[in-house]
Amino acid sequence: MKFKILEKLDLKAPCSILLIPVLQDKVLENPLVARIDRALRGVIAQLADQENFKAKTRQSLNFNTMGKIGPKRVCLLGLGAAEKLKHETYRRTGGLGADWLRKFRAEDATVVCQVPKGIKLTVGDIAGAVVEGLRLGLYRFDKYKSKDDGEPPYGGPGGVSLFCCDARGKVMKGVKPTLEAAVRRALTLAEGVITARELVNEIPEVMTPAELAERARKLSSGIKGLSCRILDEKEMAAEKMDAALAVGRGSENRPRFIELLYEPPKVPKTAPLFAMVGKGVTFDSGGLNIKAGEAMATMKMDMSGAAAVISAITIIARLGFPLRCAAVVAAVENMPSGRSYRPDDIVRAMNGTTIEVGNTDAEGRLTLADALSWAIHKLGAARVIDLATLTGACVVALGPTTAGIFGNDPGWLATVQQASAEAGEKCCNLPLDEDMKEDIKSEIADVKNISATRSGGAITASLFLQKFVKETPWVHLDIAGPAWAEKKRHYEPVGGTGYGIRTLVRLAESLAAKSGE
Ligand code: BES
Ligand code: MN
Ligand code: ZN
Repeated sequence: MKFKILEKLDLKAPCSILLIPVLQDKVLENPLVARIDRALRGVIAQLADQENFKAKTRQSLNFNTMGKIGPKRVCLLGLGAAEKLKHETYRRTGGLGADWLRKFRAEDATVVCQVPKGIKLTVGDIAGAVVEGLRLGLYRFDKYKSKDDGEPPYGGPGGVSLFCCDARGKVMKGVKPTLEAAVRRALTLAEGVITARELVNEIPEVMTPAELAERARKLSSGIKGLSCRILDEKEMAAEKMDAALAVGRGSENRPRFIELLYEPPKVPKTAPLFAMVGKGVTFDSGGLNIKAGEAMATMKMDMSGAAAVISAITIIARLGFPLRCAAVVAAVENMPSGRSYRPDDIVRAMNGTTIEVGNTDAEGRLTLADALSWAIHKLGAARVIDLATLTGACVVALGPTTAGIFGNDPGWLATVQQASAEAGEKCCNLPLDEDMKEDIKSEIADVKNISATRSGGAITASLFLQKFVKETPWVHLDIAGPAWAEKKRHYEPVGGTGYGIRTLVRLAESLAAKSGE
């Protein structure tokens, strides 16, 4: 999608849709809206009154201009009250605009980004957030649609023009370079989120561990400083990754281990490494403890953590942050068969820890045991974050749009929370409750993969992971809820959301800035 920055807003210039975000209860006080209203002889004032349009959040007013001005349609998008404006408001407004562009199959659009008086956000913040929301909102997974269903194809309109101005509607001087940088960054981020959505939405017959590894290789190729290493099953066995291999044993689609390493040219190879680990179960049937009824549907999304870390590191490398980092994934499919691992088996993870299998559906933590061990012992990571669609319990606790966040180091935890807040991805801190450690004790092995208590499943899963990171500063994000959208929300269509990528990129950016101080 192409974006262009306009020097002035010419109402005679033709375009499919003109999108204008407006503040609540200030529709006609907006100088641009007033200008268009005059050109249309007071139509907006009448319509706003009749349709009770107050520019509350998610409210929009959209009308055909009947050839009286250049734009075929004008669409006013409600921003809500000025006091409540933040990044996310503009992202959502961009998403709302995308809905209209789709509805009218717009071929092009002009978007107004106005900076209201007395607000903390800069014109770059606003333009970036609008572009992000617009691009993300236009995405759809249409690869398997054989007929035109009236929706515009993936990619949306050909060109989008941005007109950025101050509260009086006057173009701002000297902001073009900032604006261009903000728009470029927003698009890189949005394309990265879309890349992850594509990986998650792909059907599980296609998105096997080998395919995920192949896509990781392709996505990372040709980016300076970024290297990709893939281990097959034999090589994984040689590295003693028996926990991950056990999970993958029942499937025809054999496991792969994926390591992406970004070593920026100017950063010494001895600089501390930041490792991002993602759960990469390409389909989770539950294994022999097979999932019942509805629970198995959507389990192609069980590699959302992997998709997030793979996509995030390619963005980080593209943006060229001066930070050594790695993305690590043990990719497997969890299937029942005569070769499957069983409840009662004991498997040994890469770091030597033995694990009693209580339930083959608690497979994510087994794959992460090896991936975390690799990140810490093989790569020597100084800081680790993992993203995993780990437990249904976390969704029960926090709902579908908030991730659970756990950490063994208060400083590192706070750094990640800050990044997630800035990225507009919600998470809520849950405890690594020491008193529950005894619930994952095994009589016959070092640890068990399910808990003796039924409650607090997201916590016991995290306590299990903690065994494999010990003292290394580590944060675990349980993204079982927000990784997948059951219904459309704002700029997220149904399906994979790409949750976590914006947090990871923001986090890497803040680490890079700190290391340069
Ligand atoms: N992949 C699932 C978790 C999940 C559930 C993700 C719903 C997204 C939506 C995970 O592997 C799993 O099956 N967890 C079990 C753990 C249990 C057997 C201890 C669960 O949550 O039921
Ligand atoms: Mn499972
Ligand atoms: Zn799973």
